[in-house]
Amino acid sequence: MEASRESVEAVETELLLEAVYRVYGHDFRGYAPATLRRRVLHTVQVEGLPSVSALQHRVLHEPQALGRLLGALSIPVTEMFRDPSFYRALREQVLPVLRTHPFLRVWHAGCATGEEVYSLAMVLEEEGLLGRTRLYATDLSASALEVARAGVYPQEKLDAYARNYREAGGRADFAAYFDQHGGHGRVVDRLRRPVIWGQHNLVTDSSFNEFHLILCRNVLIYFSRPLQDQVQGLLLGSLMPFGVLALGRHESLDFSPHAGRFSTLNSAEKLYRRVS
Ligand SMILES: C[S@@+](CC[C@H](N)C(=O)[O-])C[C@H]1O[C@@H](n2cnc3c(N)ncnc32)[C@H](O)[C@@H]1O
Repeated sequence: MEASRESVEAVETELLLEAVYRVYGHDFRGYAPATLRRRVLHTVQVEGLPSVSALQHRVLHEPQALGRLLGALSIPVTEMFRDPSFYRALREQVLPVLRTHPFLRVWHAGCATGEEVYSLAMVLEEEGLLGRTRLYATDLSASALEVARAGVYPQEKLDAYARNYREAGGRADFAAYFDQHGGHGRVVDRLRRPVIWGQHNLVTDSSFNEFHLILCRNVLIYFSRPLQDQVQGLLLGSLMPFGVLALGRHESLDFSPHAGRFSTLNSAEKLYRRVS
């Protein structure tokens, strides 16, 4: 009896992920299988290879191929003021609570290329809180972090982001948050200064501080259920008592073993407050 192509690819993908973990320490074994499969098969195609096993061989023998695979698996898709109503809710429901603290620590876990971080920095500045906030922004992907740190974005994207900004309740001059550099905008220094960028893997690294606000948006969606539970535990353990956790539109704490430790601040915008 011949095994189906899908079942062979499933086994090969498992072996590839095991090899990447054992040789390089990058652990994708608990990621959601359907997305993983699509990304791995896409990489096989882009690399011009006949099979996932051939990709495994290349990744083990050519470190640059590992970099390309990691890039494909990390999916750093993002934008400024993504889900504008989320930023409205932050402004209206979360910042009034956080402003009672003399100093604020925020963690962007899975910040990709930085757009979310600079969006929050703008809101914090407009609300008079940026001067007493430290933003910690981490991601698995070193190449995404490089873009984030540079803070330079093409003008076409900034035009779309300006619309999101206004929908999110922004009333300032969005263009003034950037220095113009021939078709690109570079985020002004005063928004960059409070940010500390760093590589951090939510699956294998531990907590590194206690935060008043954690944004981990559109990251858990790529994880299997047990891995989501594990990472939610890490986020919970990184929150101050009564700190706020923000998840992505398609993520939630429903069915999480940690749900009882949170109250819901806004169920549509996936804002939760740690209560115990
Ligand atoms: C779709 S982006 C989300 C970016 C941003 N938070 C947003 O909502 O627009 C997902 C990000 O999660 C990062 N990521 C995936 N697995 C991760 C892990 N184990 N640890 C840290 N970051 C991870 C990816 O590198 C990618 O940049």
